Amino acid sequence: MKIVGLMSGTSYDGVDVVAAEFTVAGDTLRMRPLGHRELGYDAESRERIGALLPPDPTTVEAVCRLDNALGEVFADAAALGVELAGGHADVVVSPGQTVYHWVDGGTVRGTLQLGAPARVAARVGVPVLSDLRSADVAAGGQGAPLVPAFDALLLAPGDPDESGRRDADGGPRGSGGGVRAALNLGGIANLTVVAPGAPVLGYDVGPANALLDAAARRFLGRPCDVDGVRAAAGRVHPGLLALLLAEPYYAASPPKSTGKELFHPGYLDARLAALGEPVAPDDVFATLTELTARTVADACDRHRVTEVVAAGGGVRNPTLWGRLAALGAGRWVLRTTDELGVPAQAREAYAFALLGWLSWHGLPGAVPSVTGARRAAVLGSWTPSGPPYGVAVPTPPRRLVVVR
Ligand SMILES: Nc1ncnc2c1ncn2[C@@H]1O[C@H](COP(=O)(O)OP(=O)(O)O)[C@@H](O)[C@H]1O
Ligand SMILES: [Mg+2]
Repeated sequence: MKIVGLMSGTSYDGVDVVAAEFTVAGDTLRMRPLGHRELGYDAESRERIGALLPPDPTTVEAVCRLDNALGEVFADAAALGVELAGGHADVVVSPGQTVYHWVDGGTVRGTLQLGAPARVAARVGVPVLSDLRSADVAAGGQGAPLVPAFDALLLAPGDPDESGRRDADGGPRGSGGGVRAALNLGGIANLTVVAPGAPVLGYDVGPANALLDAAARRFLGRPCDVDGVRAAAGRVHPGLLALLLAEPYYAASPPKSTGKELFHPGYLDARLAALGEPVAPDDVFATLTELTARTVADACDRHRVTEVVAAGGGVRNPTLWGRLAALGAGRWVLRTTDELGVPAQAREAYAFALLGWLSWHGLPGAVPSVTGARRAAVLGSWTPSGPPYGVAVPTPPRRLVVVR
């Protein structure tokens, strides 16, 4: 079956669109990527999303307006996905834009994604899966991260004779029995750890680009420090780094999830103010890049990983990539998911396409050892596109009789 997957993450830089064809062979699910595109948000859309995000107050009217505006954006993206699929897809997975992830003392009590799925279904005329996080939250889980189901299947030790796939180093896929990790460097950094014979682990490590992007908006008036150029020109400020590393979130044990409710622009301002001395903008970029690299590397070392397969926009930042590779040298190999056939920028969208496949077949997509849920939930709500107009009954009813 052909599935279109959409993704707009915490960075709200744009919508990643993919199409993939899934076929089952025994206990192996095969995914053929059919293509991916990135639909960048224009400055106005970015502004509108940003204005609605915490900690700023908002109105129900603004929520309704953005919900529908995003629905049209996702409808455009879904239509593009159907083109990538060759003109027909069976399902569209449209997880929406997270505008609030309600964390209360480590417990997630609710989560809200906007993106009017009815608008998406109306445009493409196929069932749309949305609201993928609520079922896990209702089962007592964090509702995030959801990508580990994909990582666990992708990094599962495979039979090289059957799949024919080989690692980039020439060894059979999944050989060596080492601990493999999938890393996402989006607005938030998430890590999935797959160890032979152990439950899958996965959690949000901390900010990957969230604070870097906040600094870019503040100091450069741009969405990000393109190619990590400013960070490369700066020097790590030890005092600021120590203040940032003192964040209790990093020391908390998983399951845990975070977002821009914690790592928002005001968070950075407060740390800079607490430092009580001026820091040159380039040094802020260098320090924030080091914060991401350190927190991720510490997490990898904690789980004794031997290989890290990375994806997300952060892999395009050579300064961040260089620091990560340097911190892991001698202990873990750092590569991108491209080497496994999954384009790094599109990994999450492919993961959501896979979650759609699981939900369509009534299979759970949440991993309780990751989200902390009491049971593995089947994810999402379906919005059917409905039967074509006029086929349901030959004569439209003119009156209603109540039968007693
Ligand atoms: N060339 C680049 N240089 C530096 N950072 C980049 C580059 N390309 C992407 N990024 C970073 O990646 C982020 C987007 O990553 P993405 O995986 O889409 O995250 P999300 O899932 O949160 O939307 C951008 O906000 C930016 O910080
Ligand atoms: Mg993005």
